Amino acid sequence: MLIENFRRTTVFGLLPAVLLASCGDSRDPAGSDPGAASQSADSPWPGIAPAPLDPNVEAFVADLLRRMTLEEKVGQVIQAELRSVTPEDIRRYHLGSVLNGGGSTPNNDKQASLEDWVQFADAFYDASMDTSDGKLAIPILWGSDAVHGHSNVYGATIFPHNIGLGAGNDPDLLREIGSVTAIEMLTTGLDWTFAPTLAVVRDDRWGRSYEGYSEDPRIVSDYAKAIIEGLQGVPGTAEHLGADKILATAKHYLGDGGTDGGRDQGNNIDSEEKLVRVHNAGYPPAIEAGVRSVMASFSSWQGQKVHGHRHLLSTALKEHMGFNGFVVGDWNAHGQVEGCSNDNCARAFNAGMDMFMVPEDFRALHGNLVAEVQEGAISQERLDDAVTRILRVKKQAGLFESGRPSSRTHAARQENLGSTAHREVARRAVRQSLVLLKNNGSLLPLSPASRVLLAGDGADNIGKQTGGWTLTWQGTGNTNEDFPGATSIYAGIRQAVDAAGGTVELNVEGKYEQRPDVAVVAFGEDPYAEFQGDAPNMQYENDNGPDLALLRTLKADGIPVVAVFLSGRPMWVNPHLNASDAFIAAWLPGSEGGGIADLLFRQADGSMPYDFTGRLSYSWPRTANQTPINVGDAHYAPLFAYGYGLTLAESTETPELSEESGLSETHAGSSGTWFSNGRALTGFSAMVGRDRDNLLVVQGLEMVSDQLSPSIMMADREVQGDSSLLHWRPRMPGYFAISADGRPLDLQRESNGHLSLSLLLKTAQAPSKPVLAAMRDAGGNTAQIDMTPLLDAEDDWQHYRISLRCFAERGVNMEEIAVPLELYTTDEAQLLLAEVRLATAAEGDAFCPAARP
Ligand code: BGC
Ligand code: BGC
Repeated sequence: MLIENFRRTTVFGLLPAVLLASCGDSRDPAGSDPGAASQSADSPWPGIAPAPLDPNVEAFVADLLRRMTLEEKVGQVIQAELRSVTPEDIRRYHLGSVLNGGGSTPNNDKQASLEDWVQFADAFYDASMDTSDGKLAIPILWGSDAVHGHSNVYGATIFPHNIGLGAGNDPDLLREIGSVTAIEMLTTGLDWTFAPTLAVVRDDRWGRSYEGYSEDPRIVSDYAKAIIEGLQGVPGTAEHLGADKILATAKHYLGDGGTDGGRDQGNNIDSEEKLVRVHNAGYPPAIEAGVRSVMASFSSWQGQKVHGHRHLLSTALKEHMGFNGFVVGDWNAHGQVEGCSNDNCARAFNAGMDMFMVPEDFRALHGNLVAEVQEGAISQERLDDAVTRILRVKKQAGLFESGRPSSRTHAARQENLGSTAHREVARRAVRQSLVLLKNNGSLLPLSPASRVLLAGDGADNIGKQTGGWTLTWQGTGNTNEDFPGATSIYAGIRQAVDAAGGTVELNVEGKYEQRPDVAVVAFGEDPYAEFQGDAPNMQYENDNGPDLALLRTLKADGIPVVAVFLSGRPMWVNPHLNASDAFIAAWLPGSEGGGIADLLFRQADGSMPYDFTGRLSYSWPRTANQTPINVGDAHYAPLFAYGYGLTLAESTETPELSEESGLSETHAGSSGTWFSNGRALTGFSAMVGRDRDNLLVVQGLEMVSDQLSPSIMMADREVQGDSSLLHWRPRMPGYFAISADGRPLDLQRESNGHLSLSLLLKTAQAPSKPVLAAMRDAGGNTAQIDMTPLLDAEDDWQHYRISLRCFAERGVNMEEIAVPLELYTTDEAQLLLAEVRLATAAEGDAFCPAARP
């Protein structure tokens, strides 16, 4: 089989000489060339023999297909979302699938119980099996982002994000993680995970860097097979897609990790040769391991959206690589294909996408697809092909036989979820993922009999340690109480130290009562997901950053410092490295913080059973603007090379590092905040006045005149001057606006989800005329929303959220927002405003009044 060649040749790449000279050690890097061996003369794509088809399955599917109506077939190619879909919809439209998106849970309850999950699964299943309308019973598929464990579920085992697993470089561990995740998913009655992510991440500014295993195609390709075998079972064995297994998804096909500038949902401009060699590396092994679904990528290749790309979806994936499962779209991503909208996109379907992920607009999409098949815009063959693929996977997964979700082997078995055995696997994964970057004076391992100060905002913060895609989409807003059974870094250290007679003092700011022998400081990136995590450069924080100050203070006190850095990517932290004696890249370790203590401290009896085995699977930058930087680059000069990682056994002194970030100016950082503490942030201006096209920029903090409406004055919310009072005068119409200086904002991706514009506001004097909130684009289009119903002078300070989609629907170009907020009224009113920013669904519902006819 051709794939065999593919494997063998990957091992022998040419190592660029410069690599051998750089500061990396250990494993050999990836200048190699997966895929090349199998490429045929006329195509760069590897040829793979399709997974064998079972004639009984095929006959079963063909028979069903013959008996299905057009409406039933169309229903199968649609996947709707938990927050919008009801069992009645499933019955009525014969929907083939549902998903729960990031942070979406039964009854919108973050702490939903196993019974809740299973009850919903039963209700969806029952609806799909209902034949009272004379239609066929076809079991529904429920998909979820179990991307590091069953990560939307309260009480589940949360594994390190993939970047940490990549550092572990252990395919067998991935197989075990897959098995555990499968069992925990089955416990909730679900069938299918949207994992693994096979992105080969080439620019760490990408907000999804941590979802990838490596910048090295080789690790991604080794892991693809292992994790899929763990989730689905090994093809040809009895366990395959059996009662202990679920369906996996290889995502995001193709090129998601290689977009220009690391922009999420951006454009990959690589040549086809490089697309195949680097970004496709994980797909042949995934297909060989029998992966049953592939998710199309939001991104574009050479300017064309993958969702509409026939060459990639059909020719390369299905023909050359023999993929005979189905292609699922990403969240409304088909709506971004030229000429398409969320509820209408024959083009994506014709290109080879088999199932639409259409969270909300599934009803209209159903009608449009039926019409398109009737009119011939979609051929009967294409529809039958897509439906065949979906039914084949359902049959192979045993869904026609396995009965109601609640009746299945693992359903609702509380003892499965976050069990000790599962957590043990996760704790081991944490140990394997940690990379020791510095250990001067052989500070580590520590004696557990020490007096330990534990500081930093990551010390006792399980939300921070688990990161994005955990209980909420962005991973924000979680507290330790949301993670029953989990262990914070502090709790893990506490156990180790208590057992040996030492003491631990927890103080986030690093203040101590008794002088400690050593300080452990856990700090790093706050949680984010997808485009919200895109960063302008690799700088963690600037010279005034609070974590740096903390490290420096401790160092100045002469206290030895161990830094535990929590992050979704390598970052430029030279000043932090200098201010620490030992430094650990801990990535996003998940729910088992005990794995960190395992490597920091000896056992109570003085022995040290563990050592660091983690090695960088991403190159670590020397300056904050050194990106992209990848092993195999022509002028490769990272700070810590791919494969770097110290052990306790060796003593290596890391010298003082340059603290020149390489950045020319202080970047404001990626942020969705435009107005804070009562004033416009750098890059934005606050403006007032009567003439919308000729507003006055507020200079300083106040602007008051009889002629001005609204006038703007400093006010106090929690502390002095942390908000602004906008005072509209009687019968004097006027605008308050926040405008983006220079380039307009691109909020197109943000308006595709459940993001909202959030105003921290208090009504000081109720308006007598409507107050309109608006967004304006660079072309002068305005979308206005009457927010008067929200403004009640009885209310205290509140976050008022207006959905971004609400603006988008009112005809403003979300790709070019020049004024992210405008407030307008025509008569007297007083509003206090403290903050204007983007908010996620996790923060609560957003307002959107029905559009005026
Ligand atoms: C992400 C996918 C995810 C899907 C469902 C999308 O926004 O790109 O990775 O599987 O949402 O939550
Ligand atoms: C994500 C979903 C998430 C939603 C929230 C989407 O882009 O993929 O998983 O639930 O946004 O609004």
